[in-house]
Amino acid sequence: MTPSDGATQDGRTPSRIVVIDDEQDMRASISQWLSLSGFDPETYASAEEALTVLGPEFPGIVVTDIRMPGMDGMALLKKLVGMDASLPVILITGHGDVPMAVEAMRLGAYDFLEKPFDPDRMSDLARKALKARGMALESRALRHELADGGAIMKRLVGNAPEMVRLREDILDYGQADGHVLIDGETGTGKTLVAHALHAVGPRAGKKFVSVSCLGVDDERLAARLFGPVEAGGLPLVEEARGGTLCLEDIEAMSPTLQARLLGFINDQPTPPQTRIVAIVNEHKPGRTLEDVLRPDLYYRLAAMKLTLPPLRSRGEDILSLFKTYAEDYAEEYGCPAPDLSAQDAAYLLQAPWPGNVRQLISIAEQAVLQNRRGTGSVVSLVMAENEASGGALTTEGKPLKDYVEAFERTLIDNTMRRHKGSIVAVMEELCLPRRTLNEKMAKYGLSRSDYV
Ligand SMILES: Nc1ncnc2c1ncn2[C@@H]1O[C@H](COP(=O)(O)OP(=O)(O)O)[C@@H](O)[C@H]1O
Ligand SMILES: [Mg+2]
Repeated sequence: MTPSDGATQDGRTPSRIVVIDDEQDMRASISQWLSLSGFDPETYASAEEALTVLGPEFPGIVVTDIRMPGMDGMALLKKLVGMDASLPVILITGHGDVPMAVEAMRLGAYDFLEKPFDPDRMSDLARKALKARGMALESRALRHELADGGAIMKRLVGNAPEMVRLREDILDYGQADGHVLIDGETGTGKTLVAHALHAVGPRAGKKFVSVSCLGVDDERLAARLFGPVEAGGLPLVEEARGGTLCLEDIEAMSPTLQARLLGFINDQPTPPQTRIVAIVNEHKPGRTLEDVLRPDLYYRLAAMKLTLPPLRSRGEDILSLFKTYAEDYAEEYGCPAPDLSAQDAAYLLQAPWPGNVRQLISIAEQAVLQNRRGTGSVVSLVMAENEASGGALTTEGKPLKDYVEAFERTLIDNTMRRHKGSIVAVMEELCLPRRTLNEKMAKYGLSRSDYV
């Protein structure tokens, strides 16, 4: 599996595509095209039938024909928008239905495809719509926690020095008013940190508006940000007034639009009414932030800059993150979390993690599912994942001490568990004097009472 953006907060990317058309041939060909592009579409012959699987938190998107007996596409669109305004609905229009398509966009359709349609455009649209859906579900999940900045800070697992520093920066910058630039590899927690910045500061009760600059053409993005908004309503810079406007994938913004954003920033009073948090999600190797952003905009945003560390350099955090998420999934699936062997720990610590925390979360979920079936091991999961991403195990950037400590902690943890907290039995098995064992347990935050 490849780590992708647009995952929901629990790390899973919405992937369902509901295809609705009353004509059997059309259904089959849409479904075939989408399958060829790697999607897994589900087909329905009527809106009524499809409505049985659609709900407000639906983890996917809808592609529907307009002209159908019974409930037609427009009526379905209205119903879906009423149920969940951020559920992307792509409409298929017959030739010459342009006025209807315009009306559909006004009602909140994600986009439309005119028959006969271009399969590439369809898979492209589906991909973008799924990403948008992921972002919407993710910010919704986070918004539930926004009332309480403390809760979101607690979600940030990790005690690596960079993480301790990051927490302090979030608290400082959260109180400040200036704009922020967040940078870091995919899956390192940039979106989560953007929400945390908003949640810990005085803007917490106000809006957090998030938009991706990727794959939207310039004119449309300009109109969404600054107006005029086609469907009525406020441009995003206004909607976020008093709160935060989070610009994901800022590197995809054209230089012209970047200049306009800079103009907007410069025209705001101090402190700014709309706080900008810009996220750089991807840069080509060898290109620096100054290459992807106009220098004037870069300097304006980078006064407060957060660079999130890659997971592979975070030492023991890898194990605490794995444990946290494995326990969450174990609870969700109603089965025990896997015990990590010292070998598992060594593999987790040495994997290159190109997809960072997001990738680790998905391994934690797979490990729990494996454990439930009673097959496989964490080692084999990590190995398979590495082969898929062509990466080699690495010791890059991590001191030997980290491995030794992680190994030691895991070993003591497992032995204590096996002996149900009997200090004497553990001393014997590991040939350790009582005092050394006590010191090590204190050092690793292990407490006997957790095992009894
Ligand atoms: N330090 C962390 N502690 C706990 N969960 C984290 C941490 N960093 C990231 N995550 C989780 O990892 C996943 C990916 O994070 P995200 O913010 O979407 O990354 P990015 O925006 O950098 O691609 C999310 O599910 C997020 O909640
Ligand atoms: Mg993100």
